[in-house]
Amino acid sequence: MTKFVTLRRPDDWHLHLRDGEMLRAVASYSSHFGRAIIMPNLVPPVVTGAQASAYRDRITAALGQKMTLRPLMTLYLTESTDPADVVAAHAAGIISAVKLYPAGATTNSASGVRDFDKVRGVLDAMAEAGIPLCFHGEVTDPAIDIFDREAVFIDRVLDPIRRATPGLKVVMEHITTSDGAEYVSANDNIGATITTHHLVINRNHILAGGIRPHYYCLPVAKRETHRLALRRAATSGDARFFLGTDSAPHPDRAKESACGCAGCFTAPNTMSILAHVFEEDGALDRLEGFTSLNGAAFYGMAANDDTIRLVKRDVPAEYPSHIPAGDETVTVFDPGFPLYWHVEDPA
Ligand code: NCD
Ligand code: ZN
Repeated sequence: MTKFVTLRRPDDWHLHLRDGEMLRAVASYSSHFGRAIIMPNLVPPVVTGAQASAYRDRITAALGQKMTLRPLMTLYLTESTDPADVVAAHAAGIISAVKLYPAGATTNSASGVRDFDKVRGVLDAMAEAGIPLCFHGEVTDPAIDIFDREAVFIDRVLDPIRRATPGLKVVMEHITTSDGAEYVSANDNIGATITTHHLVINRNHILAGGIRPHYYCLPVAKRETHRLALRRAATSGDARFFLGTDSAPHPDRAKESACGCAGCFTAPNTMSILAHVFEEDGALDRLEGFTSLNGAAFYGMAANDDTIRLVKRDVPAEYPSHIPAGDETVTVFDPGFPLYWHVEDPA
């Protein structure tokens, strides 16, 4: 029996499209999304409204006219970010959010924030103007175990910032722990993105039976109890949780290295994987909330007008294991199970 689900066109509230050749190689794989929040961690990062506007033009050019994806731009918060530039870029419709990376927390985060007091003025201005702040929620203190960095971040950074700047709308990006899910579901004016891969893998996938660099991302996948907590949050129907794939392409050469970099490239097969996950948890009726409604509502936008259809067939959908990017290849995330859900996009 063929099963199908029709969804409002989904959005991706956390996406890395990169720049140049990589941008041109990966952009089309996100084209069945309506909108995507584009991460600003280029080298050098996107720190001003003018840079965000120029980057948006490069993305639109790479997408070409046929594709419906609308890039929603973000600024990379630094200790010298000018509050007036942020407010003006938002008022002009150039940016939808600002991203905070603790300095050194992840890929291309060297220009991030070290002293959170130095960005207080920007955060106050954002709260006033209703501009959401997206957090990479990990402390960088080398004394804190990498598996604890998200939980410690909540106590040491996130909660104090939310108390100091009441009214600031925050998104805890790519939560990976039950601590993150619990904090978000117990508070208001906060949302959380959950990635596709964190619903599928735990830390054993990275480390058991050999080291598997294509499952390494930040925040790093945690133990199974945390993965299950994320599954419960994503499938709960709680509108604070929504999809942010964090699809983060890197050349295979950079991942398959003695010091491999962090990021999973999930854009091509994300919707097939999510349909599998939600069906497995008896929550297919909640998939649309997670992928297409909750994030838009959080960002104060209407859901997309059009729809896509997911069809479950007897034969698995075929996705490439790698895609070419100039002289490089990029490995597509392998969920480890066949994907019977196919995406039918009338656009
Ligand atoms: C991201 C990247 O490669 O830019 N990597 C990752 O592991 N998620 C950065 C990020 O979102 O942390
Ligand atoms: Zn990311």
